[in-house]
Order: sequence, then structure tokens, then C-alpha cells
Amino acid sequence: MGEETRSVYLDNAATTYPKPEVTYEAVDGFMRDIGGSAGRSGHWRSVETGRMVYAAREAVASLLGAPDPLRLVFTRNATEALNLAIQGFLKPGEHVVTTSMEHNSVMRPLAAAGSRGITSTAVRCAPDGRLDPPDLQKAIKPSTGLIILNHVSNVTGTIQPLDEVARIARAAGVPLLVDAAQSAGRLPVDISSSGVSLLAFTGHKELFGPQGTGGLYIGAGLDPEPLCFGGTGSRSSQLEQPAELPERYESGTLNAPGIIGLGAGADFAARVGVDVIRSHELALLDRLAAGLAEMKNVKVHGPADLRDRVGILALTFEGATPPEVAAALDSRFGIAVRAGLHCAPCAHQTIGTIATGALRVSLSYMNSADEIDYFLECLAELRL
Ligand code: ALA
Repeated sequence: MGEETRSVYLDNAATTYPKPEVTYEAVDGFMRDIGGSAGRSGHWRSVETGRMVYAAREAVASLLGAPDPLRLVFTRNATEALNLAIQGFLKPGEHVVTTSMEHNSVMRPLAAAGSRGITSTAVRCAPDGRLDPPDLQKAIKPSTGLIILNHVSNVTGTIQPLDEVARIARAAGVPLLVDAAQSAGRLPVDISSSGVSLLAFTGHKELFGPQGTGGLYIGAGLDPEPLCFGGTGSRSSQLEQPAELPERYESGTLNAPGIIGLGAGADFAARVGVDVIRSHELALLDRLAAGLAEMKNVKVHGPADLRDRVGILALTFEGATPPEVAAALDSRFGIAVRAGLHCAPCAHQTIGTIATGALRVSLSYMNSADEIDYFLECLAELRL
């Protein structure tokens, strides 16, 4: 095979690319033709912007099975949403149960919360990333005020048993915060039937929105302290932050272009259907895993059964480091992947790749079988 100058994007767990055409059109159309600030003025541009932002809120809430769109608050990303839940909800003396597969967006806020007298237990998962729910149950103490679960690992694509963990949390009377950064839009997520209390999502991955978008669903009866205080366009005469949602958590001018693009991306995912998105991804994953199984110097980390994972694979190699392989794929073949620790050192510790990191190949609905074949051909060409 000759060297080619194709461009194949397989770094969708970092951010999906490309987005569906409707996302680009929604952002461009809003910025050119509407361009107001939501909830700030009485003129038609502001009112129309408010309507479009609300439609986006409804679109995301509906895709995630959130019963009340007003309790879905927009943030800059999943990290900010997780910080809002962790910093705003936990009180000194409380304990958190989480897993060893969490991203630094959970691990770092928990480490910082240590200085406020908040302790945590990260339940060790198996080397394929899977949590055994009874282990989590055993870690719950009388002082446990929150359980945090990464629904899908950004390193291995491992899908955690969310429904079982939700049942354990309900039985223990402890709120469950779900990090759905890699699962929202990619797997069925139903907040109302699963009994999840808080769910953090990002907009720019499988919800196909622009970067700079995300949010937190805050279940009824929960009232975390806001991270940020300021203008909301409502109750402007009072100095206290309004109690009403979503304004309580959305101070400052909203990222309306991003949110409206996110609404279009979520509508796209709903129109295609999360089941269809999942089937497409499983077909690609099957093709990829079969090709990799033929390569004796490549090790694939994560669950062997593809039904236990999404289209995210962590690879290591005999005779080459992940950054070397990632750099060669990029420079010689135009293939984008991500090597390293993926901001999740504890997950790499769990799967045994902390010393070297891994090369992550991550798919989205926008990838094709032809791109998988090209990746496999190029990897074989490197003769590892
Ligand atoms: N957390 C994202 C990733 O895994 C950014 O690349």
C-alpha cells in the first residue's frame, strides 16, 4: 500500500468530528439571523433566542429521558457539570463512593474536596474496567452522601452496570451522580426510569454539539450550591441568586450559539435513533476488533464481549510505544487517534497501562467501515 494523504478521524472520545450538517447550520443560522441574548431583553431577537435555547433544553432532556427540562442546566462541559454536583452538593464530613475507572473530572474535584473534610473510596474495577456492583455496595458507609459512576470509560469503552448501581444507590438512600460524557447519545440513557439523581453530560461528543457545551440534570428535591453567581436576567432587583431552575445555575450570558448547535445535534441523534447509532457502532467495532485480533503484536484492553463496550478501544503494542504509533499514523497516513493517559490515570492503573499509557481509537456514528479498513491497513503497514 502506498503512503496516502487521507484524513481519517478516530479521536471521537475527545470530541466528535465531523458533526452532522444540521449542527453547523444551526450555529451559523443563529449567529447570522437571530443573535440575541436569551432572557435579557424584550425585543424579538432576545425572545427568539430564549425560545431556541429552551427548544435545545427540551431536545437534550427528551433524549436523556429527563422528566423536567427546567432541571437540566447548561454548563461549559461535563467537567463543570461534575464540579457543580461534587462541590455544590457535598458537605464536610461526608463520604463518596466511586470507581477506579473515573476520569480526572471526578478524581480531581474529589481530591480537592479532601481539604473540606470530604473523603472518598474508589472501588477497584477488574482489569477490563468492569465494576462488580457488590464491591460498590460494600464500600457504602453511613456517612456516604454520594455515589459517582462513570457510565462508559473514556479509556476502554467499558459500559458499567448502571441499572444495578442505581438500584443499590436507591436501596441505600444515597444519590447517584452519573458521568455520561461518553454515553449520552450513544447508549440508551433514561433518567426517569433508572432513578439517577444527577447526570452530567458533555455536548460535543455523541450529542454532536459544539465544544463549550454540556450540562447537569439535577433531580427533583436536590439543591446543590451554585458554582457561580451573577446576572440571570430574572429577579434583577435582588442580590441573592434566584432559587428557580435553570437560572440558579446559569449566571452570565449563555453560550446560545453552542447550546442551539447542541440542540440540533441532539435532535439529529434522536431522529437517527440511539438504537441505530448503537448498531452502527457495534458493526464498526466488530470489524475493528476482528482485524486487530489478527495482529499478534497488538493488545486490545477492555471487555472481550463487544456488547460490554462502546466504540472506544485502548491498544498497546509489543516493540513500540503508543505515542510512537499515534505519531506515525498521523504523519504517514493522516489518521487521528489519541495516545497517553487520556486524563484518566486511575483507569490506566486499573487496566495495567499506567507506565506506557495506551493508544485510543474511538469511533462515532459518522465513521464508516471503509475508514476502519483503512486504519487496519495502515496499522499493519507499520509492521509492529
Ligand atoms: N475526556 C476526553 C478524552 O478522553 C477529552 O479525550
